[in-house]
Amino acid sequence: MKIHPSHFMVHTYNVLPTTLSAQVEVIDKESFAWAYHQTLEERLVGRDKFCSSGDSIGYVVVEEKEEVIGAANMFARSITSDGVSMKLGGIGGLCTRKDKRKHGVGTELLNRAMQELRRNGVDIAYLCTEVEKEWMARFYEKVGFIRLAHGHTYTGKSGKRYTEFDGMIAPVCSQKIFQRISMIKQPFDIGRGNW
Ligand SMILES: CC(C)(COP(=O)(O)OP(=O)(O)OC[C@H]1O[C@@H](n2cnc3c(N)ncnc32)[C@H](O)[C@@H]1OP(=O)(O)O)[C@@H](O)C(=O)NCCC(=O)NCCS
Repeated sequence: MKIHPSHFMVHTYNVLPTTLSAQVEVIDKESFAWAYHQTLEERLVGRDKFCSSGDSIGYVVVEEKEEVIGAANMFARSITSDGVSMKLGGIGGLCTRKDKRKHGVGTELLNRAMQELRRNGVDIAYLCTEVEKEWMARFYEKVGFIRLAHGHTYTGKSGKRYTEFDGMIAPVCSQKIFQRISMIKQPFDIGRGNW
């Protein structure tokens, strides 16, 4: 059963208020538990890859009775890829508190994050996810994301280049740039750092 949207409030913040950040961290920990159980070596690689927190443009937070039940981080940066200059947007760390899943909170977070990316004038949005899970891919496809058939590539903090195949893109302000990037036959270069 879906919770009616009026049962929860959706807020956006440029910077996460300290009063909420502890609750967001708890949900992040239970949602991405694997990231908190990595070996030192895996953590160092993770830090190298996800080195672009400075690209954060804000957070979407869903609250119910003053408790955080979901959150997502939004990003943006200017890049030039395949000869096209664009403002690339991103969504990371999207998660719903375990006891509140399958009630529409994730959909609400995603819809609001896409609205915010549009308000910030991003041309296309990128994210990485567990694309092998059919329902997860469908969750993002509903708001326009498609899988990057030829993968995506980026450099880490160290300068090392990574190429991966779990990325998706969606049109935001530029259908033209989205069409162009969706046609390229090599990995989409997203610049420095994954989100
Ligand atoms: C992904 C996640 C945010 C979805 O949150 P949610 O609040 O359950 O999302 P919703 O209730 O809006 O569900 C969205 C759709 O996914 C489906 N869905 C959600 N969880 C599902 C599951 N475990 N298995 C199958 N389908 C699922 C819902 O049925 C719904 O489908 P519908 O739109 O056809 O009705 C949540 O499962 C989560 O926090 N996961 C751990 C963190 C994570 O992996 N985040 C994604 C990082 S890219």
